[in-house]
This record gives sequence, structure tokens and C-alpha cells, in this order.
Amino acid sequence: MRISKMKIAPSILSADFSKLGQQIKMAESAGADMIHLDIMDGHFVPNISFGIGISKMSKSVSSLPHDAHLMVTNPENYYAGLSKAGIEYISFHIEIDGQRKNLGENRWVYTADKIENRARIDENIRKIKDLGKKAGIVVNPPTGFDKAEPFLEKIDFLLLMSVNPGFSGQGFIPEVYEKLEKADKYRQENSLNYEIMIDGGVNRDNAEKLVSAGADILVSGSSFFKSSEFQELIRQLKR
Ligand code: DX5
Ligand code: ZN
Repeated sequence: MRISKMKIAPSILSADFSKLGQQIKMAESAGADMIHLDIMDGHFVPNISFGIGISKMSKSVSSLPHDAHLMVTNPENYYAGLSKAGIEYISFHIEIDGQRKNLGENRWVYTADKIENRARIDENIRKIKDLGKKAGIVVNPPTGFDKAEPFLEKIDFLLLMSVNPGFSGQGFIPEVYEKLEKADKYRQENSLNYEIMIDGGVNRDNAEKLVSAGADILVSGSSFFKSSEFQELIRQLKR
């Protein structure tokens, strides 16, 4: 039952940028439920991707709902533009005022041992909702689930990262299962209905297990764009 209701959100970061419009249409015909937009600023994460222009282009070629995953230090700067581009789901990281943890080789991840600026997070959720959009918060692998708890009753969706953000094609971090179980349990115990989204390293070996454990939306970059077998698996699971 739960499995057949799952949604798949291909991340266009893994698409072939030389024919991006066609790739987005391909994702739609291959069964995508929404399109995932990975927006990066080179500061919050060690990479730069694209911004509002590409998001707008994607929305113009596909009528699917789009979700913008803002891996940026100042998400406030993007809401008006994304809203104007027609993007329906917008999420930002709860680590925006957190600590930068170096991972070596020009890589890093932001984590929040404690939430330094709770008011800013509340404010961001409110800003997204005031635009009539679905508001989501994102939690990086090193940040504990408890850091997200104070915001869960205000959000529409919770995005749990299963890789350190910045790149597609990385290995899945299995510790996300524990967070996923907590997030699913918390929503049941508190009668909340936020959707749970998993992002990073989703593949044919973990997709079904993630949905069984409570995930509603699976983001997929490389598996989706690089494997028609994975697309077929998703179609089968949804049947
Ligand atoms: C990572 C991004 C992910 C990524 C997913 O920073 O947020 O959305 O593109 O790609 P895969 O599925 O290849 O890990
Ligand atoms: Zn993402």
C-alpha cells in the first residue's frame, strides 16, 4: 500500500546538461512524480550548480510539481524568484547557521550541534508558506534528528540527506535509516502529516526498503538518469 503511493523526484543535477530540456521531458515520461532542483552556492556546499534561471526553464518544459532544494547559506534571497518561476516545494537546511566540518580534499559539510538561530528557521518556514508554497527543512547526515524536532509541526515536508550534499553519484549513508524511523514515528505519535523525502545515493538496493521504513518521496539523480533498469524498478514498485 505505502509502496504504491511512493513518489520519485529525479534530480536534474545528474541529467545531461547538453540536452537538459529533453532530459526533463524524458524524466516525466519515465514516471517522475516531481522534479528535484539542486541549487548550490559554493559556500554552504563545495559546489555550484544552477539557480532560478534553470529552475524556470525546467518548469516551462514540464508541468510536474518541482521542488527546490536550497543548499545555500542565505536561502531567503531565493524565495521570491522561485515563487515567480512557479516552483511548488521549497526547502532549506537547518544548518544555515551551523558549523562547517571539513571532510578533506576541498569537501565540507555543515552540521548543527545546536540550533544557533531558531527564530531564523521559523522565519524561513513562514516566508515560504506566505508565498503559498510547501515548506521543507533539510537535515544533513551529521545533524541529529532531534535538531529538526522543534520545527516539525510547522513544515510540509522533511528532507533527510543520505549523502553529504554537493554532488550526485555518491555512496548512500545507511545511518539515515535511523533518522527516517524516528521521523516516521514522530509524525505518527504527534498526528502530523509532513512528507518525508530521502536524498542521496538512492538506488535499486535501497529504494524499496526506504519506502517501507517511511519515506514518501525518493530523490534520485544518477540511478534515475543513468539506468533504465532503475526506472523500471520504480514503475514496478508503484504498481
Ligand atoms: C546532493 C543533491 C542530491 C543529488 C542526488 O547534493 O542534493 O539531490 O543530486 O544524486 P544521487 O541520487 O546521484 O545521489
Ligand atoms: Zn537534492
